[in-house]
Amino acid sequence: MSNDSTKVARDVDVLSVENITVSAVGKNSSIRLVDDVSINLKAGKITALAGESGSGKTVTAMAILGLNKERGARIDGGDIRYGGRSLVSLTDKEMHTLRGVEIGAVFQDPSNSVDPMYTIGNSLREVIRTHKQVDAQGANRIAIQALRDAGIDNAEERMDVYPSQLSGGLLQRVMLALAIVLNPKVIIADEPTTALDVIVQARVMRLIRQLADRGAAVLFVTHDLGLVSEYADEIHVMYAGHVVESGPVHNVLKQPKHPYTSKLIEANPSADTRTDRLTTIPGGVPTPGEIPAGCRFVDRCAFAIEGCEMPQVLEAYGIEHSVRCWRSSSVAESLHRRDS
Ligand SMILES: Nc1ncnc2c1ncn2[C@@H]1O[C@H](COP(=O)(O)OP(=O)(O)OP(=O)(O)O)[C@@H](O)[C@H]1O
Ligand SMILES: [Mg+2]
Repeated sequence: MSNDSTKVARDVDVLSVENITVSAVGKNSSIRLVDDVSINLKAGKITALAGESGSGKTVTAMAILGLNKERGARIDGGDIRYGGRSLVSLTDKEMHTLRGVEIGAVFQDPSNSVDPMYTIGNSLREVIRTHKQVDAQGANRIAIQALRDAGIDNAEERMDVYPSQLSGGLLQRVMLALAIVLNPKVIIADEPTTALDVIVQARVMRLIRQLADRGAAVLFVTHDLGLVSEYADEIHVMYAGHVVESGPVHNVLKQPKHPYTSKLIEANPSADTRTDRLTTIPGGVPTPGEIPAGCRFVDRCAFAIEGCEMPQVLEAYGIEHSVRCWRSSSVAESLHRRDS
């Protein structure tokens, strides 16, 4: 990798999602999918976006990548700032270039991202030569280095194989190589390891950690708090289309303030050693279009009292920690009592 870790600026905001709303737009109606989401991606940091299925993680990630339109949704409020520019106002062509060069993407299913008709080498060389002034030999060198950086052994030999000849774990790393080959400043990784066995999963996560350590700002979308606790620096917990709690991983996972975060931790024992039983949260995430006006977790919340049906705002709770629950001090107190 060409980044020199000694010169990397850390903790600097690289990309800021500012209060975005995303809606699915039909002919005569629109449904709000994601509401008032703000996330700062910082150089050298992995920011996790966590929450149950259907909470809006992928919609948020796609908004950053400018890919929601293809899925019938659009950003209709707020802004996404990157390098002094508003990404929301870029044309599809400008966004396409930015995505290739400065913002890398890794998804859960590599088969949609790696062209089955091309050898691995051809896919990589095409990305390189589209965006860089290099000759064939130069492109080859960069491609082989990207495969090595993505943890692929025998990189030279892998250049000549087709995706169908590779295992799922290797293909996932090829997708990572494609995402990092142009040394992007931002990496959006949406469930990058969900389809992998635990050993390959750990290897891919370590690679993502290394990329952050070398200066990339990473958004790591996951439902796995164990991985968050091991690899991420910051976390935003999403529920029913908005962020309910955010802050440094050690604060949020050790001292959750939102009842939903606390329940998620109980359901993910590896993320927290306080519990030895697996808890599932009764009920389901409200679907877009059926979101209650007040607290969205109210129907599933053990702390709910009268007043919780009122809208909640995301409020600061100590330094860098924020929570969208006016009962948060009772939650914190109850967890403290349980621990002591
Ligand atoms: N284009 C769309 N049109 C209508 N509804 C959509 C669209 N895209 C997403 N949704 C809905 O928005 C909600 C959030 O979807 P999203 O894919 O962001 O969830 P997620 O948090 O990534 O879940 P998972 O963990 O299963 O990947 C879901 O209820 C989904 O069905
Ligand atoms: Mg998703």
